[in-house]
Amino acid sequence: MATTLVHQHKSIAPPKGVEVWDVDPYDEAVLTNPLPFFDALRAKGGLVYVPRYEILISGRYEETREIFYDHARFLSSRGVGMADFKLEEPWRPPSIVLEVDPPEHTHNRRVIMRALSPSVVRKLEQDFVEDAERLVDEVLAQGEIEAVAAIAEAFPTHVFPRAVGIKQPDARKLVDYGAMVFNAVGPDNELRQRVMARAPEIVPWINEQCDRSRLTEDGIGATIFAAADAGEIGEAEAGMLIRSLLSAGVDTTVSGIGSALWCLAQHPEQFQYLRSEPTNLSGPAFEEALRFCTPVQAFFRTAGQDTTVSDIEIEEGTKILCVLGAANRDPAKFENPEAFDIGRDARGHLALGVGVHSCVGQIIARAEGRAILGALAERVSRIEFAGEPKWRPNNSMRALESLPLKLS
Ligand code: HEM
Repeated sequence: MATTLVHQHKSIAPPKGVEVWDVDPYDEAVLTNPLPFFDALRAKGGLVYVPRYEILISGRYEETREIFYDHARFLSSRGVGMADFKLEEPWRPPSIVLEVDPPEHTHNRRVIMRALSPSVVRKLEQDFVEDAERLVDEVLAQGEIEAVAAIAEAFPTHVFPRAVGIKQPDARKLVDYGAMVFNAVGPDNELRQRVMARAPEIVPWINEQCDRSRLTEDGIGATIFAAADAGEIGEAEAGMLIRSLLSAGVDTTVSGIGSALWCLAQHPEQFQYLRSEPTNLSGPAFEEALRFCTPVQAFFRTAGQDTTVSDIEIEEGTKILCVLGAANRDPAKFENPEAFDIGRDARGHLALGVGVHSCVGQIIARAEGRAILGALAERVSRIEFAGEPKWRPNNSMRALESLPLKLS
């Protein structure tokens, strides 16, 4: 029997016992203010069926973690977006780390993990700290700033491409490519179409940066190409792994740092607490911001077989939207989850994923977060809003459009 497709994946009926909810998780009002959607989602059950896209959605911590963790039953190779790569051709060749399953995944991930190991990041960290201090001095001299551009984008787009070894970085193109990647995982809505229209301009530039000749000889990129020289992976695969870094390593940290600034401006007492012990608290403060705002709000998994979660029968081919942002605010897991509290134990949050696909760049992401929050805590006495912050709709990323701040 031919498979019927809906929104680029197999058409599925609501499983027995699951609430059918006529909501659009991609409505711009939901994307820019997701908290009421998160609360309603968790209240409706472990899994909810959304007829408009014929998908299941999970928002409670337990089910979201179970699905995200279990790579054997819930596949990444069929795409972490709404489209099923088994049935539809993806918009770009799939990532050979994010969008593959073991054993292929295990092999490729080993190469990328080595390039981003704790010892590699330890060597980068002092530079991150010095760059963060310089940047904070600059913005402090300005007083009022647009913090998305001046800090959240400026810092990662300076330190990260340099660490990878990109000889001629273009901050705008890197951020815009990230927007493309993270909007692409949604349905084919206006948001996705708008960013995809820029693909002919940006994608070739990104691909060029992944070539060995464009990279310095001492960066993370060179370590990945050394694995190609050793015969561990092919030359083309090395380039694909660099592309994964550029896809996943810029907008995520821009979002994480922007969100952390927003949280600290909104909770001045937490900023004062951070100032009391910058060295010890900058890490926990970044971690709590990741839990509280969750840069990657939601990714899909595809059921590779008929299976069950919380006694709900799930049919092979079902697309499940795992809402990490909702799980990270589940009161069943985090006490008083609506409080931004840098003193809490935020461990176990899902902002960096879980299981074999958990964020391979988390050590470097945390080092960037610690550096910038540490520099702010050491040098700035108050962070206040200088205007209304605005969130930017994106099909999977929680990102600020603008964040006017006054630093003193
Ligand atoms: C605060 C910043 C970051 C956040 C919130 C974040 C979030 C995530 C999440 C949620 C996943 C899991 C995806 C899944 O299971 O489907 C992931 C995977 C990944 N991240 Fe990050 N990330 C961040 C920074 C970075 C950086 C800086 C890099 C590059 C150095 C990076 C590279 C990757 C890659 C390559 C994967 C795929 C890993 C795999 O499939 O095995 N990320 N990230």
